[in-house]
Amino acid sequence: MNQIIHPITSIKGSIEVPGDKSISHRAVMLGALSLGNTHIHGFLNGEDCLSTIRVFRQLGVEIDRVAETSYIIKGKGLNQLQEPKYVLDVGNSGTTIRLTAGILAGQPFHSVLIGDDSILKRPMKRIKEPLSLMGAKIDGREEGKYAPLSIRGGKLKGIAYHSPVASAQVKSAILFAGLFADQKTTVIEPFQSRDHSENMLLQFGAKLEKTNQEVTIWPSPRLEGQEVNIPGDFSSAAFFIAAALLVPNSLLRIKNIGLNPTRIGFLQAMQQMNGQIEILNLHYEGNESVGDILVKSSNLQGITISGDWIPKIIDELPLFAVVATQAEGITKVTNAEELRVKESDRISTIVNELRQVGVKVEELTDGFVIEGKQRIQGGQVSTHGDHRIGMAMAIAGLIAKEPIIIQQAEAVNISYPQFFEHLRQISTIK
Ligand code: S3P
Repeated sequence: MNQIIHPITSIKGSIEVPGDKSISHRAVMLGALSLGNTHIHGFLNGEDCLSTIRVFRQLGVEIDRVAETSYIIKGKGLNQLQEPKYVLDVGNSGTTIRLTAGILAGQPFHSVLIGDDSILKRPMKRIKEPLSLMGAKIDGREEGKYAPLSIRGGKLKGIAYHSPVASAQVKSAILFAGLFADQKTTVIEPFQSRDHSENMLLQFGAKLEKTNQEVTIWPSPRLEGQEVNIPGDFSSAAFFIAAALLVPNSLLRIKNIGLNPTRIGFLQAMQQMNGQIEILNLHYEGNESVGDILVKSSNLQGITISGDWIPKIIDELPLFAVVATQAEGITKVTNAEELRVKESDRISTIVNELRQVGVKVEELTDGFVIEGKQRIQGGQVSTHGDHRIGMAMAIAGLIAKEPIIIQQAEAVNISYPQFFEHLRQISTIK
């Protein structure tokens, strides 16, 4: 499916975006492992989170949709998941395959995880290695480097693991497996990654201690079903933050957004670049910070991003490249080699798609350099099946000279099915 994005004159009004993707996955998983019911409100009905629901239904968990974005998960407890008859298909979802692998590592049965062509290219050794050290038998293509993954779980040993990558998916897989271990399990990261698993494990009653880069979990006798109110996804809100900053004469309020400090590196980058952004109505929902974001059109200045900033902005880096084209001077991203193993190689994909619409970009092995301001010309691009590339290029289209035609635009259904409709609602077209 193609989408045409026309240049616009302003962004105005207020908007809510769908629920947080990371939190939606975790609510289903921990709900499944709890005793009693978990009521989820504000669930993201995107393809990735629906993959998690499908997989947990195949593991014998009853999951009822009771309203548009509300679900009841009828928890099975830690030890009552069922051996699945068929392979478990995670679609495009890296979070589903890696976190579910952590849970399956602790189950006394055999299971197989598969996914789409993108999933089959993504690195799985990063979870196979620690979960195998804990005692699970895991195999996959090319010596366990890639899915399909075959898992025979069972009794696990607690370990202390220094993760070579700052990855919440790796950390969470180990922490979830730690629920089934014989003693405490510790994960140490090079930089802190998003901590939604830790926050939610604590909410569900797990025993866990954390500092910025180190988390320890103790095996749990039981988790208790909870009410989970999921805030809007900051990573989805980021597209509208960028739109309102870049399109002249704009003023936008984005309501009820998750503002977890491990997720808002993009917000901090925009503020440092002179973006006019205010946070209003800041409060807690469960263990997560939530608030409204008020954004005005701004003249941005280039900055450099690297090191511990990267995990906090990781999913917004393709969008950040689009923003960089409109900032005065040089904007540089380094240490972001993880981008190469996301839904697509997001360094080469965003660099190539920006070049398609007339932007000059320097590609680095671990990032990119963009000198602004540059006029975006418009033209034809593709998502390459990557949802965040599609939405980032749509924002480029709002400020281009000519329209941008986005091929394979249905990729946005992975995390934000209503994206183009919502974008139209707040846009004034020339
Ligand atoms: C996620 C963690 C991040 C992020 C992904 C969602 C999660 O991946 O890019 O979109 O929900 O844990 P990594 O853990 O691989 O960095």
